[in-house]
Amino acid sequence: MLSWDEFDEEETTTAAPAAAAAQPAQQNTAKLDNEAAGSVEEARAVAADDSAAIARAKQALNELDIREGLAELEGESARVHVGDKQMINARADLNQLVPFKYDWAWQKYLDGCANHWMPQEVNMNADIALWKSPDGLSEDERRIVKRNLGFFSTADSLVANNLVLAVYRLITNPECRQYILRQAFEEAIHTHAYQYCIESLGMDEGEIFNMYHEIPSVAKKASWGLKYTRSISDPTFQTGTVETDKEFLRNLIAYYCVLEGIFFYCGFTQILSMGRRNKMTGTAEQFQYILRDESMHLNFGIDVINQIKIENPHLWDAAMKDEATQMILQGTQLEIEYARDTMPRGVLGMNAAMMEDYLKFIANRRLTQIGLKEEYPGTTNPFPWMSEIMDLKKEKNFFETRVIEYQTGGALSWD
Ligand SMILES: [Fe+2]
Ligand SMILES: [Fe+2]
Repeated sequence: MLSWDEFDEEETTTAAPAAAAAQPAQQNTAKLDNEAAGSVEEARAVAADDSAAIARAKQALNELDIREGLAELEGESARVHVGDKQMINARADLNQLVPFKYDWAWQKYLDGCANHWMPQEVNMNADIALWKSPDGLSEDERRIVKRNLGFFSTADSLVANNLVLAVYRLITNPECRQYILRQAFEEAIHTHAYQYCIESLGMDEGEIFNMYHEIPSVAKKASWGLKYTRSISDPTFQTGTVETDKEFLRNLIAYYCVLEGIFFYCGFTQILSMGRRNKMTGTAEQFQYILRDESMHLNFGIDVINQIKIENPHLWDAAMKDEATQMILQGTQLEIEYARDTMPRGVLGMNAAMMEDYLKFIANRRLTQIGLKEEYPGTTNPFPWMSEIMDLKKEKNFFETRVIEYQTGGALSWD
């Protein structure tokens, strides 16, 4: 750890012999510290011994119009009051993080940072041996690994692009933007993790990364998501009218409730099921860390959507509720198709019919989380062990235990 005492001491000893030579520099610094406009101008005046490059730099600063730069900042140039803050279309200065209005967003940012992990920390040796052994895995198991790496390796990029190119700009709240920046980095880590698995296992990278063009059940999910990014990622798109605010809300529902909230769940369940059976444990461990991050992304998105509804009740009319329900039902249907494609037969103690029930159970959760009614009443969870890994009702507890395990360096246990 750095000791500032030592630093000061060293500074004094080395600085002492050079004290005389350093004096003019100290005088210059003192001038800059002096707030008198005269001194600042003097410091910036082009001197005879300035090189041409330095003279040009000083000249450019002399011509800089500060008011022009400040005018480009988002929001009003005044001290921020909590009451001025809004999720969309806020007028408050977006560069002033505090005072917080949405403490939950800041807390999620802190929790996300506490969960930090990197793919290289996971040992992949057992996976490599199993994948390369001719009878290590059945053809159906191999299909599951390949399809899921194919889907996820590009899906997380779609999510990241949507966040960075559209959502970040349109959410007008600094504490939420802080979390979005954290989420964007986590999406980069996820794409890194998939790449790390693909590379470790020596897979055909072209085949895996191009699956979202070539395999219909993967392609449909990707193109369904992209449909909701198209208009809002246009740099000229602005919220502020009922129609554009609704368009943005649709995007948030598509990405948070459907992509991250439904499209990831068949794959997560399949890979985690392998891990529980002591197969592909490194890949499964990567997926478990990703699932932990994704649960938080989903919860953040749900909170944002619900906050927008509270602040703009006119957007949440009967037509919008119907649309949101339809989006979640379409997403569930696409994920059911994906389950059938990835599991033509029973495998790993599960089959497509069980997955269908699980996805309906998840869809009910997504619907009720944003205030809509269940569309698959009476559906139960056929994979209670998934709830143990990521209890939908006790996500906070899940994070707390996992954070401690990760931070003490312990490997995840599949028992
Ligand atoms: Fe992700
Ligand atoms: Fe995510």
